[in-house]
Amino acid sequence: MDSQTTYNYKVVRQFAVMTVVWGIVGMLVGVFIAAELVWPQLSMDLPWLTFSRLRPLHTNAVIFAFGGSALFATSYYVVQRTCQTRLFSDKLAAFTFWGWTLVIVLAAITLPLGITTSKEYAELEWPIDILITLVWVSYAVVFFGTIMKRRVKHIYVANWFYGAFILTIAVLHLVNSAEIPVSLTKSYSVYPGAIDAMVQWWYGHNAVGFFLTAGFLGMMYYFVPKQAGRPVYSYRLSVVHFWALISTYMWAGPHHLHYTALPVWAQSLGMVFSLILLAPSWGGMINGIMTLSGAWHKLRDDPILKFLIVSLSFYGMSTFEGPMMSIKTINALSHYTDWTIGHVHSGALGWVAMVSIGSIYFLIPKLFGREQMYSIKLIDWHFWMSTIGVVLYIVAMWISGIMQGLMWRAVNDDGTLTYSFVESLEAMYPYYFVRFLGGALFLTGMLVMAYNVSKTVSGAKPADAPIPQTA
Ligand code: HEM
Ligand code: HEM
Repeated sequence: MDSQTTYNYKVVRQFAVMTVVWGIVGMLVGVFIAAELVWPQLSMDLPWLTFSRLRPLHTNAVIFAFGGSALFATSYYVVQRTCQTRLFSDKLAAFTFWGWTLVIVLAAITLPLGITTSKEYAELEWPIDILITLVWVSYAVVFFGTIMKRRVKHIYVANWFYGAFILTIAVLHLVNSAEIPVSLTKSYSVYPGAIDAMVQWWYGHNAVGFFLTAGFLGMMYYFVPKQAGRPVYSYRLSVVHFWALISTYMWAGPHHLHYTALPVWAQSLGMVFSLILLAPSWGGMINGIMTLSGAWHKLRDDPILKFLIVSLSFYGMSTFEGPMMSIKTINALSHYTDWTIGHVHSGALGWVAMVSIGSIYFLIPKLFGREQMYSIKLIDWHFWMSTIGVVLYIVAMWISGIMQGLMWRAVNDDGTLTYSFVESLEAMYPYYFVRFLGGALFLTGMLVMAYNVSKTVSGAKPADAPIPQTA
């Protein structure tokens, strides 16, 4: 079939397979740094194996390589299917795949070498920032170009979420990465002091809101109804959800800077908007979960649906916990502790990773012309490994986080500290070990997925579905 009558699945296949590969790489680094917190001698005194250099490698690999590939794969698939047209440009789409892969490889080289801007989640140095900009603009052209040439009148709600994610990340990246290069591998931010902190956390929080949330909500709005075989519970709610979410997220960033040099009114504004954010977040979660109404029985024996629905439960949990942690008095306890790390991973592993895994299991057979995945039983195994892994991880971090907070603030009658820092560190060891176990279990699940995917794909002929000719 010629390229006019089929969808472009090639780029979707590439990103879908790389989602599994980068997931394993990023989580392996996560498990390794978790192990380093239990056995620090694992760094073997090599600078590039130290926790401080591998931590940003972990965050970049899981967010941008694993999460990014899942977003590229699903958005390219969803925009074509719902617009009933082929991608706007095959060449530009191919450029986004190879360009993004190059960004990831450069990150994997520079971060362990200690080359970094030191801005969290924006550590990559200026030449890589320029490459990211080129890839992202191409992504926007392909995505919105496809929407423009759609053969159906309506723009399905999933595309609204993907579109908001693409546009917002472009703005965040351009503003936060404004920097003055002093050499090929070193630059300084153009913003001074507290303004730099404010811009950084406006970026950081919206990276959570748009990279780790809006795009994945796009995924939810397409793959949950598809897998459940039911229409979205309420289309009206999805539109309200969209506008409420994107207009609230932008203002919540200062909750990362409570009790700092930031003006107090800005901190309070961030807190209030974070509390308001609970409503649209839960609206979205309810819309996703209720899509199953009348089809709850499918949860019993469909592990892909289990991944998708449990991911929504974790989404609901982390978007309840986040607003609570943004309350200043609670943040006074939680900030700097493992509670934040637990919150991050209930969102990152429970929500982002699990919704991606469910969607990729949905996609792989369709992209490779198979009826279904090689083994449904193995998907079920994977589901339980992931769920138990996340629970071990976050429960361990809740306990250690609250313990840390309480130990640090405990004072004797005479006003001296009850515990030294080392005592609080010693108390963390059992929990760091449990987190390591939980992470290792989650990673093992990913290896099971890789086996299942390779069995499904091997010997299969890549299949590009035909575009229906009557719209
Ligand atoms: C209503 C939604 C949410 C709110 C209001 C919220 C609020 C917060 C708060 C208050 C913190 C702690 C800030 C600090 O003390 O430094 C935090 C940290 C964080 N949250 Fe959330 N959260 C929400 C949802 C999510 C979700 C769904 C994810 C992931 C998918 C996520 C990822 C993160 C990350 C990565 C951090 C750590 C940032 C850092 O310090 O490096 N959050 N969030
Ligand atoms: C096997 C799974 C994973 C393990 C074992 C793991 C482990 C870790 C560890 C040990 C840290 C450093 C904590 C600290 O500084 O005390 C960390 C940080 C982080 N991880 Fe993971 N991780 C995993 C998966 C993921 C995934 C899938 C994502 C995102 C999609 C993610 C996002 C993050 C983020 C954003 C941080 C920084 C949090 C902050 O600064 O507050 N992780 N992870």
